[in-house]
This record gives sequence, structure tokens and C-alpha cells, in this order.
Amino acid sequence: MKVRKAVIPAAGLGTRFLPATKATAKEMLPIIDKPTIQYIVEEAIASGIEDILIVTGKGKRSIEDHFDTAPELEQNLLSKNKLEMLASVQESSNIKIHFIRQKQPLGLGDAILQAKAFVGNEPFVVLLGDDIVESEVPCVKQLINQYEHTQNSIIGVQTVPKEHTNRYGIINPQEEVTSHLFKVRGFVEKPKIEEAPSQLAILGRYLLTPAIFELLETQESGSGDEIQLTDAIDRLNKIEDVLAYDFAGKRYDVGDKFGFVDTTIRFALKHPEIKVQVQALINELAD
Ligand code: UTP
Repeated sequence: MKVRKAVIPAAGLGTRFLPATKATAKEMLPIIDKPTIQYIVEEAIASGIEDILIVTGKGKRSIEDHFDTAPELEQNLLSKNKLEMLASVQESSNIKIHFIRQKQPLGLGDAILQAKAFVGNEPFVVLLGDDIVESEVPCVKQLINQYEHTQNSIIGVQTVPKEHTNRYGIINPQEEVTSHLFKVRGFVEKPKIEEAPSQLAILGRYLLTPAIFELLETQESGSGDEIQLTDAIDRLNKIEDVLAYDFAGKRYDVGDKFGFVDTTIRFALKHPEIKVQVQALINELAD
């Protein structure tokens, strides 16, 4: 079955960015001139996704506004003949996006459960806004390519430093079935560093069969007292094989302060309008 639908959970509290996220959605924080969530939406579209659901919560209205038309702003840019800016503003409203609210931030697993009716009985992908991936083949497309061969749920992973394993869902790989594709013994959310079964971490990209919803409905709270998607995936793996794919590409962690600054600097050094100035600034600071 073709993978057509994507779910982007964006209902988290963003506590790592307080006070910035008190009244602003974390997903709207820009990397240079584009909100992080737009990079994520663009990856989904570049992967052939046709329908996107964003799960929002309190204080997230700006996400809906961003993907809506902005008639006054558009008219203003048109009257000033700022056509390039007009195109960039219209770009984000030309996409077919649906929204649903998660009433309380009970965890990522609960956020995905809100997508049950939207997804129906189809395989779908999940993209988290904390990770931006730059790759020749979009990350989600890489997962879809694997799914087309196997028809299994496929979880995107990459190797992280041992000392960071307690921040992620970590897989316990069983065997590499084909290049970069692993059969998995188990999935564990945020293990203690000394107990991490590997350094292969789930990095915000999932392709799931709809069987996950039944498990999410009965999923109890786990790490951080939240309903964890990783725990439901671990249970799914006991019913039908869930594979892990070590995807190609550079992944930027924009979910914490340092990762956000790191990503901003790297993107600034590639941005046609400012890269020369930013390089000069870095040289000056290094002297
Ligand atoms: P995170 O834990 O990285 O996001 O959740 P957060 O909770 O917003 O950030 P911190 O840790 O408080 O700083 C991973 C993803 O799951 C979503 C978040 O929006 C993020 O995309 N999420 C998390 C929800 O949609 N609902 C939740 O209840 C929890």
C-alpha cells in the first residue's frame, strides 16, 4: 500500500526553550528565516506525502496561521512589488495540512494516537520537529523505499555518542538483514547510559503500520511519566517485525539550545544572503 500520510506532532511544551516557548510554539522558532516546522513539512512533501496532519496544543495557533493564507500581508507585498517575498509567504499556504489538538501533553505516544481517525487503515510516517535531516534522498523517502520492499514498520536510526544514549529511544539490534536495515530485539526509551543496548538511536523519523494505534490505546506511561511511542513500538515488534533503518544524511538536533545554535550557524554559512558576512564574523571572533 502506498504511503500517503504524515503526522507531525507539535503539542509538546518545549520546556528546554523556556521562556521563549511560554507563548510561542517551539516549532515556530526559525532557523535563519524559516520556522523549523516548515523544514519538516518540506521533507514530507519531497518524500511524496500527499496529506499532512499536525498535532497541536495550547499556545500553538501560530503554526496554523503560518500555513494559512495572509491576505493583508500578501496584498502589501504585491503593492510594493516584493514578488520574491510574496512567493516565500505563499509557499507555506499552498500545502494541504490538517490540524488536530492534543488536549493535554501526555506524551508523544498520546499525540500520535490523536491521528488515528486521520490515518485510518494505512501505513503512515511520523516526523518530529526536533530533527532536521539534510540528505540527497529525503529521510522519510528512504524509509518509504525500505517499506516498499518489506511492508514492515521502519524506524529511522543513526549512531549517537554513547554518553547521549539516555536522551533517545535506543534499539537492541538483532541482525542486519540487508545493508543498513536491522531486525530488532527490542526498543527502549531513554535507557541509562550503562544499560543502553546499542548506540543506534531513534532520530525522529518513523514509518508505522496502523496496528500501532490499538497498542497506543492501551499504552501505560513510561519514561518521564509520559505515554511513549517507543514503548508501543516495542510491543508492536512482538506482534509484527518492526525494522530499523540506519538512514543516510546529516541530522541537525534543533530540540535543545546548543543544537539549535549549532544548526543556525551551519545554515547561516550556507545561506546565499548572509554567508559571506557570517563567515567574516566567525573569523573575527576566532582572532
Ligand atoms: P520532546 O520532548 O522533544 O518535545 O517531544 P517537548 O516536550 O516539546 O520539549 P521539551 O523536552 O519540553 O523541551 C518530541 C516531540 O513530541 C511532541 C513534541 O512537540 C515534539 O515534536 N510531543 C511531545 C507532543 O506532541 N505531545 C506531547 O505530549 C509530548
